[in-house]
Amino acid sequence: MSSTATSAPSRAPITVPHVANRKVRAGADPLVMVTAYDAPGARIASEAGVDLILVGDSVAMVVLGYDDTLQVTVADIAHHTAAVARAKPAPLIVADLPWLSYHVSVEDTVRNAATLIRAGAESVKLEGGRKRLPMIEALIDAEIPVMGHLGLTPQSVHAMGGFKVQAKSSDAAQVLIADAKALAHAGCFAIVLEGVPTEVAAMVTDAVDVPIIGIGAGHEVDGQVLVYHDVLGLEDRIAPKFVRRYADLKAASVSAIEAYAADVRTGAFPGPAESYHLSAEVAETLGLYGRDG
Ligand code: KIV
Repeated sequence: MSSTATSAPSRAPITVPHVANRKVRAGADPLVMVTAYDAPGARIASEAGVDLILVGDSVAMVVLGYDDTLQVTVADIAHHTAAVARAKPAPLIVADLPWLSYHVSVEDTVRNAATLIRAGAESVKLEGGRKRLPMIEALIDAEIPVMGHLGLTPQSVHAMGGFKVQAKSSDAAQVLIADAKALAHAGCFAIVLEGVPTEVAAMVTDAVDVPIIGIGAGHEVDGQVLVYHDVLGLEDRIAPKFVRRYADLKAASVSAIEAYAADVRTGAFPGPAESYHLSAEVAETLGLYGRDG
């Protein structure tokens, strides 16, 4: 194993005010967000120059093997957030509030969000529109920056009847725009917009002064987010339309482990260079001359 030492980011940490100002229509570059769930993932995202790391509840599906995001708890997200934070990445760390951690009461919401902040998050994300306003206001009142999440909200999978594109009718588009305005007005510093038609995403982006970060929402937004395992091709079972894979690390990993297994079985691994050796004197004392290694 290599050393566990972490190093400080080689660029300035990205802060909430920095993100809140990033509107493409004002001349800003689009924001780049990617999920990460552990220290190596955070280091990779940071060295790749992304703006935000999302410790998403997608950890449920891509890491923990669940079929949806409803199974993860605050303790799970705190555990993964702490691992990400230990890498001291430059991108802003956003932690997902899991399902039911912000639905029961305002007090619960603030305490659960505080657990994630104490684990190392610099902001939290929650799903839903105007019905979440009391929780959002309480969080902001407690100095916890909040990112909204509208459109296809995976924690509503049963209510939506599956992971389905949202806001396809003009009425639903109007509701979505009103929700986005309400979240921005309440003080959300950015909003993730998932699984909506490009035209609707453009209207939402026009309607608010905070950045809209899209996923399956086309290009007329203020940034994009993708799941780490999708970008790297570590997840190869499902390929949503909106995913672009930039590597095929699942296949590369299987090949690498196959090569390792073959070397172990043929005796090609470990070789002399990968083994420790006695000094000549000690080997002689032990009568080992003439033996290999
Ligand atoms: O948990 C997650 O990965 C997310 C993204 C899909 C935005 O919420």
